[in-house]
Amino acid sequence: MKFIVEGGRPLAGRIRVSGSKNAVLPMLAATLLTRHRCVITDVPDIVDVRNFLKILTDLGCSVKTRPGKVEVAAENLRTFRPDPVLVGSMRASVVLLGALLGRSRQVDLSFPGGDLIGARPIDVHLRAFSQMGAVANGQSRLRLKAKRLNGAEVFAESSVTGTENMILAGVLATGTTVIKLAALEPHVLSLCKFLKKMGARISGIGTHTLVIRGVKNLHGATSSVIPDMIEAGTFALLAAATKSQITITNVDHSQMDAVYHKMSEMGVRFSLAKDSLTILKPKSSYRAGAIRTGLYPNLATDLQPPFGVFATQCRGTSVVHDWIWEGRLGYLAELKKLGARVRLIDTHRAEITGPVGLKSGNIRSSDIRAGMTLLIAAIVARGKSVVRDIHHIDRGYEKIEQRLSKLGAKITRQV
Ligand code: EPU
Repeated sequence: MKFIVEGGRPLAGRIRVSGSKNAVLPMLAATLLTRHRCVITDVPDIVDVRNFLKILTDLGCSVKTRPGKVEVAAENLRTFRPDPVLVGSMRASVVLLGALLGRSRQVDLSFPGGDLIGARPIDVHLRAFSQMGAVANGQSRLRLKAKRLNGAEVFAESSVTGTENMILAGVLATGTTVIKLAALEPHVLSLCKFLKKMGARISGIGTHTLVIRGVKNLHGATSSVIPDMIEAGTFALLAAATKSQITITNVDHSQMDAVYHKMSEMGVRFSLAKDSLTILKPKSSYRAGAIRTGLYPNLATDLQPPFGVFATQCRGTSVVHDWIWEGRLGYLAELKKLGARVRLIDTHRAEITGPVGLKSGNIRSSDIRAGMTLLIAAIVARGKSVVRDIHHIDRGYEKIEQRLSKLGAKITRQV
């Protein structure tokens, strides 16, 4: 599948941020920890969510969907072996390890797939499970069994899904689990809050040390998904790169410090209202900046590629440094095809010099964030561009061409 984009057109209007992909998927995993019905609202209609719901159905859950809303009841599970093909379609399926260990005391997971953005090891997850009493059962490292799942002091090394896995395993374990160096990303906090609504006992939420006192059972709960800070930042950079005035709604400003700071530094004018952000047209040229990613609350690695395309419109040389993933600069080779001036220093660092008037071309997306970034580049570039392999974009952004078309972008999907 591909998008045909007629770029170089001005955009204007309002766009609403969807519920966060990386928040909703662990919440869906958490529904496995109770026999009772859970209701989740503001669920984005994206391929990763659809596939996760198929996994839950296949495990034996009753799943009901309505637009934006999902109900899951995991009364009886028929297996602890999630569908390997669906597991292989996304990285977030790794959190099924903690959820199924918690629920069934055993799990047999094939290796999770997802974006090719780096090595993506899970040694941190497996060490914690082993400390909690889970042993590898058979040849596969991801076939785990625990006679008893015991609370333990575990070290999350700031891994996002690693922390989520330890939380999911800890809430129904016997005794107390202390998670040191827990990740602080908003989606980790939202998982904790959802589990607390289900009756879990978790303290230290929002700090690097989580203390979980295991309980016997959890009950059902209703919760909405937090706004996607990556989508909010991406739309802001789309507006800035196209020099358009766009209002972005359903924004949680408390998650956006690093984005606002970096945009201000690079000369983007914007104003904030209660839960919205308006990007204003520039009065002078944008400035190059240092785009360094880090652990939350630093700038998210998932926003590095959209900042990269924005940097092509800034005066001077921006430095990009993404230390988290070694495969996150691949989109720069595609940007070069549109005329971007890029110097790759190594797999983690690059320089981007601007401003350049991007020209149209034929480009290919390699992962969710790179795909969305190249779509932005095609919207900026004058003339007709083709963005291929857009199935990556569909994994994480709901009905993107329809939403961007309402802002004036000309995008058509072709199979
Ligand atoms: N790491 C290890 N060992 C581990 C786990 C991680 O060395 O056992 C390293 C990784 O190699 C990496 C760093 O630690 O260098 C961070 O990895 P982390 O485990 O935090 O990443 P993740 O949980 O696999 C989540 C998001 C990613 C996002 C990263 C960083 C989900 C489903 N995925 O991945 O999101 O980039 O955190 O914030 O939550 C995306 O949505 O496009 C995406 C890739």
